Amino acid sequence: MKSESVSGSDVPPSVRRRTDRDLHDCVRVLAEVHEHDGYPVNWPDVPGAWLTPSSLLASWVAVLDDRVAGHIGLSQSDAGDVAPGLWSVRAEVGIDATAVVSRLFVAPWARGHGIGALLMARAVAEARRRGVHPVLDVVASDTAAAALYERLGWQLLATVEQQWGPRQTVAVRCYAAATRGW
Ligand SMILES: CC(C)(COP(=O)(O)OP(=O)(O)OC[C@H]1O[C@@H](n2cnc3c(N)ncnc32)[C@H](O)[C@@H]1OP(=O)(O)O)[C@@H](O)C(=O)NCCC(=O)NCCS
Repeated sequence: MKSESVSGSDVPPSVRRRTDRDLHDCVRVLAEVHEHDGYPVNWPDVPGAWLTPSSLLASWVAVLDDRVAGHIGLSQSDAGDVAPGLWSVRAEVGIDATAVVSRLFVAPWARGHGIGALLMARAVAEARRRGVHPVLDVVASDTAAAALYERLGWQLLATVEQQWGPRQTVAVRCYAAATRGW
């Protein structure tokens, strides 16, 4: 029996590098995700810029039936990032030996078919190619994402409270990719 994709066609999802022409579609999917899941917690003033931080090393989109169905980025670690700091202490390496997996989201209509795992694999492969260890922060209320990371064997480093504004305190879970098989 043939396996069916989300939309009912036989074409499995694919992942490719994001191009400038994808940005509009990525923002549209991000808006659906924000509406559906509250990710990101605070809707950015300029979503295209939020998806393209200056620290961005590379980004990818998942495509299903010629539609953008998901997104992931890999960024250089910043001295202020929590997960890279925790990992660098634990592994006794510099912050620059880490990279941050970020901006992961899958359209609500494309969930539960392995697209999130596919995107993670692509970002992890790129980190490995660059010789850096992938880490990430996730808001504790993003429970599907935390479940995905744990399913992929990522280690929880710590849960920390962050002050995102004068009246906004957010619990953030910090993860590092598994070292086994690294
Ligand atoms: C997290 C997210 C990307 C997962 O995308 P997805 O394509 O549905 O994930 P996958 O189908 O690849 O799931 C892989 C594994 O993750 C786990 N998982 C994913 N969604 C889950 C859920 N809602 N509940 C429990 N486990 C879940 C499962 O173990 C799953 O494997 P299984 O189906 O074999 O059990 C998606 O839910 C999403 O976009 N969430 C909102 C955005 C967000 O929170 N981003 C985090 C940024 S740090």
